[in-house]
Amino acid sequence: MRYISIKNLPNMIGDEAWVRGWLHHVRRQGKLIFLVIRDPTGFVQAVVKPLIGEEKFKIAEKLTRETAVIAKGIIKEDKRAPYNNIELQLITINPVISNALPELEYEIRPDSGPQVMLDKRHLVLRGEQASDIMRFRDFITRSFRKFFFSRDFVEVTPSIIVQTQVEGGSTLFAFKYFEQEAYLTQSSQLYLETVLPSLGNVFCALPSFRAEKSRTRRHLTEYTHIEAEMPWFEFEDLLDFMEDMIIHVYTKAKESIIPSKFDQKITIPSKPFERVSYEKTIDLLREYELKGESGEYLEHGDDITEGPERALVDRIGKPTFLTHFPTGMKPFYMKVNEKNPEIMNAADLLLPNVGEIIGGSQREDDLEVLLERMKEEGLDPKPYYWYIDQRKYGTVPHSGFGLGLERTVQAMLNLDHIREACLYPRLINRATP
Ligand code: 4AD
Repeated sequence: MRYISIKNLPNMIGDEAWVRGWLHHVRRQGKLIFLVIRDPTGFVQAVVKPLIGEEKFKIAEKLTRETAVIAKGIIKEDKRAPYNNIELQLITINPVISNALPELEYEIRPDSGPQVMLDKRHLVLRGEQASDIMRFRDFITRSFRKFFFSRDFVEVTPSIIVQTQVEGGSTLFAFKYFEQEAYLTQSSQLYLETVLPSLGNVFCALPSFRAEKSRTRRHLTEYTHIEAEMPWFEFEDLLDFMEDMIIHVYTKAKESIIPSKFDQKITIPSKPFERVSYEKTIDLLREYELKGESGEYLEHGDDITEGPERALVDRIGKPTFLTHFPTGMKPFYMKVNEKNPEIMNAADLLLPNVGEIIGGSQREDDLEVLLERMKEEGLDPKPYYWYIDQRKYGTVPHSGFGLGLERTVQAMLNLDHIREACLYPRLINRATP
């Protein structure tokens, strides 16, 4: 039997076609049964009329939502039909294997709270909105890969199991690795740096883990981290590269109809993006009357927390680099500015709706400064011998960044919560399903 993908049905008006899929909706109206059949390519309204025959009508009457079906029908043009102005007038329809359980078992209703939605995530993912987000995420992931490959990057997969920290000890997930202690990686950056001398530009798209105690709308404990590292890249090269990458991804995203379904208009940003130094940010926050979570204005030397960071970029209304953080505010691997050792050659990229989606920097290539910075952070250099070796054997200026894929999707579709941008979100109180 040749089954037709639902997306191809509009080209076959008047023909008979076999389709297979799942019942997205089931509705009785007088003597008619209206069904919406879903396959991975789309939705089609199907109608069962009594003239299908008594026996077949009885089978159709018993069909429940989410039953997998195979069906044959005639494709008719119908301006009232909810999908593509066509309707499938069924000649036959049969459940595959068995009818699905009655709808009540679902427990997903418009007023279901977030916990029910998360418990039933495996069923929520069959819905139009959740599957649109997953498709958009796939689309965006591909566009990142495409961009990297167009610039001759090599994709690598460093291990998730590590024995070093990258972003501070407080968010490490530690576990027993046979007789030793190990961690789930916070970032693959240090490993990417090790292959620059042989592979050149490298990237990875892997899970990173953060034991984040904060419950915010943009924090996960496991997220997909797109990280890249480039040799011979100084700070300006890095900003330029990130701009090109984001413009590429926005240009691709504009080709997708999914953002419009979320009332989002994709505006392709232009180069150069807004750049605001840390010092200037603190002043701007005061000027724009944007206070911190405590209700006070941030002072020079304070961390820029999520609330004011997001308020600032929402106010600016376009992608913005926050640059040159005070030395010591950011991790040991970031390069201390040659002219002003008080600041670092680092930049976060902020997007409206979410705030920070990228953390990037030029890397400290001076062995002495690196060791000093590790000391200041209380890091024992021993487990980092392989990282420190990079500075001993042919170091060059280099830079890189890490981008949170879920935050990027969240920002582009203006999703309320980052959990909607993951297949199965991992949150402070949730590691299931
Ligand atoms: O700024 P972060 O911590 O930077 C690093 O890990 C660098 N070592 C990356 C690198 O340079 N290769 O994280 C980078 C990005 C953030 O901007 C954010 O988008 C995302 O990772 N991120 C999270 N996303 C979701 N949930 C969390 N808990 C996240 N923590 C970071």
